[in-house]
Amino acid sequence: MTTVNEIKNPSKQIASKQTVSKQTIFLVIVGLSALSISLIYQPLPENFPQPWKYRFLSFWAHLFSKIGYLGEQVNLFDRIHVLRFLYYIAVGCFQVRDPEHHLKVYDRKILNISVRIYEPEEFAHEDKMPTIIHFHGGGWLLGCRETYDQVTYALANLTRALVISVEYRRVPEHYFPAALDDCTSITYELFRNAANYRIDVNRITLAGDSAGGNLALVITQSLLRDGFSPRAACLIYPALQFFDFTLPSYRLYLPRNILGVINEQNFLEVMSELTQSKIKVTRDVLFNNHTSAKDKKRLRPYVDAQKYLPISLPFDSDEEGDEDLIQNLSFLISPKMSPLLVSDEELSKLPPIILFTTEYDILRDEGFIFAERLKSLNKTLYHHHFPTTFHGAHLLIHGPISFNIAYEMIEHIARKIQENL
Ligand SMILES: *[C@@H]1O[C@H](CO)[C@@H](O)[C@H](O)[C@H]1NC(C)=O
Ligand SMILES: *[C@@H]1O[C@H](CO)[C@@H](O)[C@H](O)[C@H]1NC(C)=O
Ligand SMILES: *[C@@H]1O[C@H](CO)[C@@H](O)[C@H](O)[C@H]1NC(C)=O
Ligand SMILES: *[C@@H]1O[C@H](CO)[C@@H](O)[C@H](O)[C@H]1NC(C)=O
Ligand SMILES: *[C@@H]1O[C@H](CO)[C@@H](O)[C@H](O)[C@H]1NC(C)=O
Repeated sequence: MTTVNEIKNPSKQIASKQTVSKQTIFLVIVGLSALSISLIYQPLPENFPQPWKYRFLSFWAHLFSKIGYLGEQVNLFDRIHVLRFLYYIAVGCFQVRDPEHHLKVYDRKILNISVRIYEPEEFAHEDKMPTIIHFHGGGWLLGCRETYDQVTYALANLTRALVISVEYRRVPEHYFPAALDDCTSITYELFRNAANYRIDVNRITLAGDSAGGNLALVITQSLLRDGFSPRAACLIYPALQFFDFTLPSYRLYLPRNILGVINEQNFLEVMSELTQSKIKVTRDVLFNNHTSAKDKKRLRPYVDAQKYLPISLPFDSDEEGDEDLIQNLSFLISPKMSPLLVSDEELSKLPPIILFTTEYDILRDEGFIFAERLKSLNKTLYHHHFPTTFHGAHLLIHGPISFNIAYEMIEHIARKIQENL
């Protein structure tokens, strides 16, 4: 009897232990799921495309940015390199090549700058190809021809134009104006010696997104001054000015942490990275303390939110800023970094502009101001605003973090470039 009891008791204990541990596992799973949902959760508008995918992506981007930051604090690795690597494995790896698209893709150097070229095969015997010179985005820090391959490949395939994707030098290895110098040299070379590259000099469009859109516009303005005639400029949520950081889209979306990385802290750090001596850029710039009272007066008409935007908010004061910030960030408000800060006379010389903006974007309002200024000058402008999507969305065409909206965007962009080429 005792033996039976002895045997029975432990088995009971095991059984009850098992139920406890099953319950525990269940509770732990529920708890962890709730925890990760609450970590990933971020309120988004109802019409947001694929909101959970966005939240997931945003969470990971944020996490890696933090890991990179910590790594940097203890001198283990550079955050920029972590982000570049992440960007490559999330997007750059998923390149599409399909013989049915009839594109020849190859890398080469033009002058001393690397490019990737996408040549529609029907041009094999053509010596005057319509051409898109493409500058990628990434805040002058990130992005390369590999991570942009999905975009440039799709552009070439959809427009059936020669696409030249420029691998310009980036911060922090190379400071301003290295990126601009590279993009300018290549563009001038292609305009001057178009025949050597089998390019139709009358059909060259400059295109780019974000920092790349900025480069495309600065170079377009420079080409016009030197007597060249680009066919059009296609600017996809371009960075157009570093003068006024109090525009409604900055105030609205910087706290919203778009893609988990475009937030206040990172924004200030990018500003700091862009300066050669990595000066500490404080929150004061968000109140425009990097500009002097004189500059505020001089430049305000070019970025006048009250005049050009349906809503504008107070605190675009005309007070004197912080002396050190003014000194150290003065390059940001030169027209070479802020192509919106030019007179109407300069803007009137522009070729047709194809402009895309997205809603969830700190750069939204400078796009709208640019559009309004062009309209008031009766310039040829096509402006399309994507009302439910976010900065960077058009890059995510293929791979695990692709968004349906990305392909719609690139088709729309390609159609408009093609119509104007
Ligand atoms: C290309 O050459 C120019 C002039 O020689 C030089 O200033 C520039 O740094 C070079 N660019 C690269 C990417 O090596
Ligand atoms: C290439 O173009 C064809 C025809 O327009 C289209 O069906 C295909 O989806 C495109 N592929 C890519 C990767 O853009
Ligand atoms: C920044 O600007 C605001 C508003 O003009 C002003 O109140 C503040 O003192 C400035 N900060 C610095 C550090 O100059
Ligand atoms: C910032 O500008 C001030 C002049 O106002 C200068 O003395 C200082 O060295 C600059 N800081 C850096 C890090 O370049
Ligand atoms: C633009 O067109 C309108 C209407 O045709 C005209 O009244 C206005 O003066 C024009 N503006 C410029 C800057 O040419």
